[in-house]
Amino acid sequence: MTRFVRCIVLHALLPAIAFCGITRAAVAAEEFPPHLQYHVHEKMMDWETTLLCARLFLGRLPSVMPGGQSDTPERIALGKRLYFERAISINRTQSCNDCHLLNEGRRAGAESIPTSKGALGGFGKRNSPTVINSGFQIAQFWDGRAVNLFEQAKGPILNPVEMCMKSPEEVIARLKEIDGYKEAFSRAFPGTSEPMTYDNLAEAIAAFERTLIAPGDFDKMLDGQKNAMSRQEKRGLTKIIQFHCTECHYGVTVGGRIFEMIGAVHPYSGTEDQGRYEISKKIEDRFVFKVPMLRNVTRTAPYFNDGKVQTIEEAVRLMGWHQLGVNLRPEDVSDLVAFLGTLEGDLPPVEAP
Ligand code: HEC
Ligand code: HEC
Repeated sequence: MTRFVRCIVLHALLPAIAFCGITRAAVAAEEFPPHLQYHVHEKMMDWETTLLCARLFLGRLPSVMPGGQSDTPERIALGKRLYFERAISINRTQSCNDCHLLNEGRRAGAESIPTSKGALGGFGKRNSPTVINSGFQIAQFWDGRAVNLFEQAKGPILNPVEMCMKSPEEVIARLKEIDGYKEAFSRAFPGTSEPMTYDNLAEAIAAFERTLIAPGDFDKMLDGQKNAMSRQEKRGLTKIIQFHCTECHYGVTVGGRIFEMIGAVHPYSGTEDQGRYEISKKIEDRFVFKVPMLRNVTRTAPYFNDGKVQTIEEAVRLMGWHQLGVNLRPEDVSDLVAFLGTLEGDLPPVEAP
């Protein structure tokens, strides 16, 4: 559905929704109508309205990720070991954690260079997004070409500019050489005659990633801790709604729910990457990317699909111009960035096994 169609449908539904008295619990759930926001007029934006909108359009991070209900401790433990396993790259130098760091610095699950360097030294063309909270999104990768964490995990190991393995069989053969994996796969996938498969490897990594849930001060505030956010952070929350950033960046991960064009209002010149067009070849998909989630975004510089924008302030300023056609004032930018800081979430320490 295009944004236009969604907008019309939701406008038509609005009186009915209002009449039925939509409950907060229902709308804070995964899906909710982003274009209710068109009804939020500037003058209405006092704190109470902001809070209501924050619950409607954003919402607190759930404590379980989709699919996480059935993950066993054995499967998660195997997935964690595989996540840090360098033997599944061509020259045994690279693991998932080498591009999505969980055990260093502030554990943002990404890396600090514009585009990633693969096991053989070649560079990809896209910036590495964070794996933290990633499974709450509708799809994985900048262009959404993997539907979930399971499908995603199968990609990088065989990708010729990332971990560069030749085939799934070669990956499994490597693991069979290492002590403990055979037993770990059996424990993680009991009752199967051949637990050591490439699909099970991906399933285990996905199970581990589904534990990477990191709520922040914003969630504490939604839980009722009024002082969890400063005055400036609260102003930033009002602005992110009022400026319609949440028209695209909505849901519990503040993004990761729809695909949009970069340069929706004013063309963005900084990218040669054509986004979803490169897989679909449909003209309407040119420069269309997944609207990235903004959870932990203040920790994952540099920005945009090509990693060409160095600071969060610049990324926010460019969003105002390219996506909304507004020149944000410096105080707007700093309020918005202050709010984004409340989306930083700390994980319990994740150490290499
Ligand atoms: C060489 C660096 C590199 C390695 C190694 C690597 N990744 Fe990535 N990862 C990336 C880049 C770059 C992207 C974005 C690529 C794209 O969108 O086309 C990405 C995307 C992702 C995403 C999607 C996040 C989102 O928000 O869309 C997940 C999840 C992920 N990687 C997990 C993994 C796992 C699990 C492994 C190990 C099996 C791994 N990565 C190995 C660089 C790497
Ligand atoms: C029309 C949809 C749309 C609107 C409105 C919008 N964004 Fe975005 N935003 C995107 C898309 C799409 C991207 C990914 C662009 C890319 O890298 O190609 C993005 C990227 C970002 C990023 C960089 C994230 C990263 O990890 O690199 C930030 C920060 C951001 N947006 C903040 C905002 C703020 C703040 C506002 C309001 C001022 C806003 N956005 C409004 C669609 C939108």
